[in-house]
Amino acid sequence: MYRTHTCGELRVENLDQSVCLSGWVQKVRRLGAMTFVDLRDRYGITQLVVGEGAPAALKQAVDRLGREFVVQARGRVVERASKNNKIPTGEIEVVLEALGILAESDTPPFTIEEQTDGGDDIRMKYRYLDLRRAAVRGNLELRHRMARAVRNYLSDLDFIEVETPVLIKSTPEGARDFVVPSRMNPGQFYALPQSPQTFKQLLMVSGFDRYFQIVKCFRDEDLRADRQPEFTQVDCEMSFVEQDDVLEVFEGLMRHLFREIRGIEVGPFPRMTWGEAMSEYGCDKPDLRFGMKIVELTGIVQRKGFAVVDEAEYVGAIRVPGCAGYTRKQLDELTDFVKRPQIGAKGLLYVRYDEDGSLRSSVDKFYTEVDLTAWAAACEAVPGDLLLLLLGERAKTLPRLGELRIEMGNRLGLRDKNTFKPLWVTDFPLLEWDEEMRRFYAMHHPFTSPKPEDVEKMESDPASVRANAYDLVINGVEIGGGSIRIHDSALQSKMFDRLGFTREEAEAQFGFLLGAFKYGAPPHGGIAFGFDRLVSLFAGLDSIRDVIAFPKNNSGRDVMIDSPSDVSPTQLEELCISVQIPGTPVTR
Ligand code: AMO
Repeated sequence: MYRTHTCGELRVENLDQSVCLSGWVQKVRRLGAMTFVDLRDRYGITQLVVGEGAPAALKQAVDRLGREFVVQARGRVVERASKNNKIPTGEIEVVLEALGILAESDTPPFTIEEQTDGGDDIRMKYRYLDLRRAAVRGNLELRHRMARAVRNYLSDLDFIEVETPVLIKSTPEGARDFVVPSRMNPGQFYALPQSPQTFKQLLMVSGFDRYFQIVKCFRDEDLRADRQPEFTQVDCEMSFVEQDDVLEVFEGLMRHLFREIRGIEVGPFPRMTWGEAMSEYGCDKPDLRFGMKIVELTGIVQRKGFAVVDEAEYVGAIRVPGCAGYTRKQLDELTDFVKRPQIGAKGLLYVRYDEDGSLRSSVDKFYTEVDLTAWAAACEAVPGDLLLLLLGERAKTLPRLGELRIEMGNRLGLRDKNTFKPLWVTDFPLLEWDEEMRRFYAMHHPFTSPKPEDVEKMESDPASVRANAYDLVINGVEIGGGSIRIHDSALQSKMFDRLGFTREEAEAQFGFLLGAFKYGAPPHGGIAFGFDRLVSLFAGLDSIRDVIAFPKNNSGRDVMIDSPSDVSPTQLEELCISVQIPGTPVTR
């Protein structure tokens, strides 16, 4: 038997017991004639101690120990003289009686302790070692508990988990596909699914009624803290439902997770239309942990002789509480912030509403105190507040104000990781105009249904058609998105027409779905949650990498296994692929 207990288990109740533990040597400390060993496994750390009177063979064995050796330790549980209240086993230690070395270890490339000296790159290269650290392991344990809670909750509601294929068909909509060559069909490729969207809809046609799947999805997009090329969705679909039915079930799921996992009761989720989100928060995923809503001032600030303002399509402001005292330097920093290429504003106007009630602006030349009082009133400002104004094209200025709002939220510490503010954003536009391609794209995907009352505008005013689509946003993060689908093949064809597909193209790409809809498709709809994002939100982390066992870096590389990598010429030949790397003369 390798062990009687785990390294996280022993307490004062076990005093005097003979025990056997197995684990990794985290640290060896020698203090005079005493040697202390921190023994670690998945469950915790237990201190082993070898005293002066220990047999010579045992002392020698302990002397050989290095960090990360795997050992089996036998001994007796005793109370510690100096207790460590930071760990659950901190009241006891095990007086070593026998020690077996099960595996030796090279000196690890970084210290595997709570505080590590390893930088990001080295820890990614040796991810299997980083996973020994309690914090990283804890994230995966949380992930497991959440997956289990999701499965239980949905199974209890009659959802069944169905696996859908991973080698599927490339479609031009959405993000770029990862493609996989087919040896048996030379020159042809499978695509890895960006989501199981069409399959879950087919399952509804098959009568499965309530489906879910915790499933890997693949998207060849530029990476960010909340995006990985392969990520996991909790993908769901239901038949005979309208939007409210879907939102109710999945609000229930989220509440269940908050309660079970975080011990938090969250009230009913507010709902906001996409239009409201854009005009009040400057984005489609508002962070509701703080206010600072955007206020439009266009009418109020114009016609006072300030040309830049008068010519602007839109002028908007946020009211930053308690920041009237911002220094010139702080305001310059904010101006630099909005001028960054990622934000793209030309400048920033501000009004300080001083504690004594006086108002001073960066554009005093054009505006009287009476004018500024009207601005302050429109923003419901009180003495002590700072107003920050941006202007320009409406569609560009709102997102800039949204970014500035988030920046101020960060600066003022208003984005507390332990506060959760979920929100449903509804009524997204059905279509999005792409200026470069000069065509409409489906904002969500081509299977999302328009609001019935807007269908007639699909020809006359496509940009104004609203979709039966919704997103779940928590703390400014898009956690999930879904829609009620088109279940009528005539409407689906109309949608493909609108997206500029010829009949032949639609048939070639989605013929299987259109065909299926001819055999009795129930009204259906669903949603998919970004599981990595959800777990990282619950863990209070900024990057989804930390909740993925073996993530890719920002260039989409797995530096541990060194992938992607070359494949052998024979493999390429079998696949009938010749590779020409741009900028090199080599052809393989
Ligand atoms: P959507 O494309 O909105 O919808 O994706 C659903 C959710 O998946 C998460 N997500 C990602 N997470 C990590 N890395 C990525 N690269 C990534 N891309 C998306 C987000 C997002 O909200 N089939 C539809 C769902 C439906 O209509 O039912 C879909 O995939 O949290």
